[in-house]
Amino acid sequence: MFVSHTPHRAELADNRHMVPAAELAERWRRDLASWAIPEEITSAVEESPWTLPTRFFARRADQQLKGPDGPSYDRALETLPSGGTVLDVGSGAGAASLPLARWASSITAVDTSAGMLDALAERAIDLGIDVRRTVGRWPDVAGDVPPADVVVCHNVLYNVPDIEPFVLALTSHARRRVVVQLTARHPLTPLNPLWLRLHGLRRPDRPVAGDAVAVLMALGLRPQARTWMRSERPAFDSFDDLVEVTRRRLCLPPARAGELAAALRDLGVDPRHPQDPGSAARETVTVWWEGSVAERAAPLDAM
Ligand SMILES: C[S@@+](CC[C@H](N)C(=O)[O-])C[C@H]1O[C@@H](n2cnc3c(N)ncnc32)[C@H](O)[C@@H]1O
Repeated sequence: MFVSHTPHRAELADNRHMVPAAELAERWRRDLASWAIPEEITSAVEESPWTLPTRFFARRADQQLKGPDGPSYDRALETLPSGGTVLDVGSGAGAASLPLARWASSITAVDTSAGMLDALAERAIDLGIDVRRTVGRWPDVAGDVPPADVVVCHNVLYNVPDIEPFVLALTSHARRRVVVQLTARHPLTPLNPLWLRLHGLRRPDRPVAGDAVAVLMALGLRPQARTWMRSERPAFDSFDDLVEVTRRRLCLPPARAGELAAALRDLGVDPRHPQDPGSAARETVTVWWEGSVAERAAPLDAM
């Protein structure tokens, strides 16, 4: 299942880790900003291209609960003490933290979306785990959130222009380990051929996961990383659902849905297994490093 031990070795080998963290973080911000969609395209449609429906993340959480997938889960579980605590930042419906519930005493979930936290809390009831929710933007709300044994943060970093304070706040909330998961390339990369075909627009190809790892290295956090392929699981309810969600992400009017469906088929999407086109949608990186919160001292009478 593992492809290599470090993501995008070629990119890391260009001495990016010798560049100061602030410069790499600024590059990260600039590269993310280059994904902005031209105003003349966004103003022609009513729906936001940036948000996927909550049910998309709820499905991901349900799939992870049935069978947790990949090293992000393994890296979190191996360090979580029995009855330990988990903090899930950008939790969505809980795909990163809920699979750990049977070994944990509580999960704290932070997300800007109250709807996502509701979806997580619903699932937590069935699992019998205590969940604390904080609605808000990390790291702005970090001061209201207690530290945890393990901090998980899956599929959020490409939403974070200000990467340095974000990852430092993850670190300062972890007693044992931080586990971050992100796609090897920007998650919108699989749609790039569609932008070109349907809008004539060439889209960016940075940042990549290796760029985030370079920031972590420059910050002295000593991250370890693995690149792996997420298993192929239908990410959408049906092919029509994939077309509808992708149409919004591409700022296309409903009248162009048929044209988009044809383009998706041409890119090799199998209508029986509807997911974003190409292996770039599945190549995933798990990054982990030590937290900076001192372990709780053992009570004197336990010594
Ligand atoms: C792509 S989803 C991933 C959800 C979940 N971790 C998963 O892997 O299924 C990103 C989530 O992060 C949340 N989010 C993005 N930026 C955030 C921030 N700075 N602070 C808190 N939540 C954030 C979004 O609301 C969304 O629910």
